Amino acid sequence: MKSIFNKKAEEIDFGNLPRHIAIIMDGNGRWAKKRKMPRTAGHAVGAETFRKVATYCKNIGLDYLTVYAFSTENWKRPQEEVDAIMGLLEKYLLESIEKMERDKVKMKFFGDVSVLSPRLRELIARTEEISKRFEGCQVNICLNYGGRDELVRAMRRYAREVSEGRENNIEEEDVGSYLFSAGIPDPDLLIRPGGEYRLSNFLMWQSAYSELYFTDKLWPDFDEKEINRAIAEFQRRERRYGGV
Ligand code: FPP
Repeated sequence: MKSIFNKKAEEIDFGNLPRHIAIIMDGNGRWAKKRKMPRTAGHAVGAETFRKVATYCKNIGLDYLTVYAFSTENWKRPQEEVDAIMGLLEKYLLESIEKMERDKVKMKFFGDVSVLSPRLRELIARTEEISKRFEGCQVNICLNYGGRDELVRAMRRYAREVSEGRENNIEEEDVGSYLFSAGIPDPDLLIRPGGEYRLSNFLMWQSAYSELYFTDKLWPDFDEKEINRAIAEFQRRERRYGGV
């Protein structure tokens, strides 16, 4: 019999994976600073890490991966850094579109993308259109996304429906249908690298019962092994949802 003492930290049970993993990709700036590089270099490596992690999640059969790429608060960063992140997203989407038929990864975007550049909006629309044909792993990229902003939008829409006489009651299980993540199960596991212990306005409603996993590893240093460590920890947890 295999002892738990010689089980490696990254050994996981592939038959018992979380359905949905959400990630706050934090630590790009510090990763770059440690190497005396500009923060934007950290984001460039972070984008490659995202590509690697998304491919891995698809290969192990994960149903959903949701990543926080740009928050409603990130506009406060220097223009040069905002432009660099948007540029990386454009590059990533352009390259993905070419490979989508092969990889068959479904992509969706959470957040108000209407304020993004016309070029980025066009790439997002194309990516989502192509994605409609795919069934497998779904990657959700949160862009100009904030959990509170998402709830405010939901309330406004509900209020509009009430005033137009189309709605008059809302239950807990109805709220999800007003969110960007409508139809998608809540994340089972939420990972935050970078050593901070907070949610930073990420998936406020959806993460109510997510297992949280924090690590000091910086996002650009993340890899398949780190994902496995988080999944292994998830598999050791007991989820009770308030019961006993
Ligand atoms: C947080 O690290 C990271 C961001 C705000 C940007 C994340 C963007 C990418 C990984 C690149 C584009 C994404 C895709 C999906 C292609 P930070 O800058 O706050 O790091 P710090 O805390 O060390 O300063």
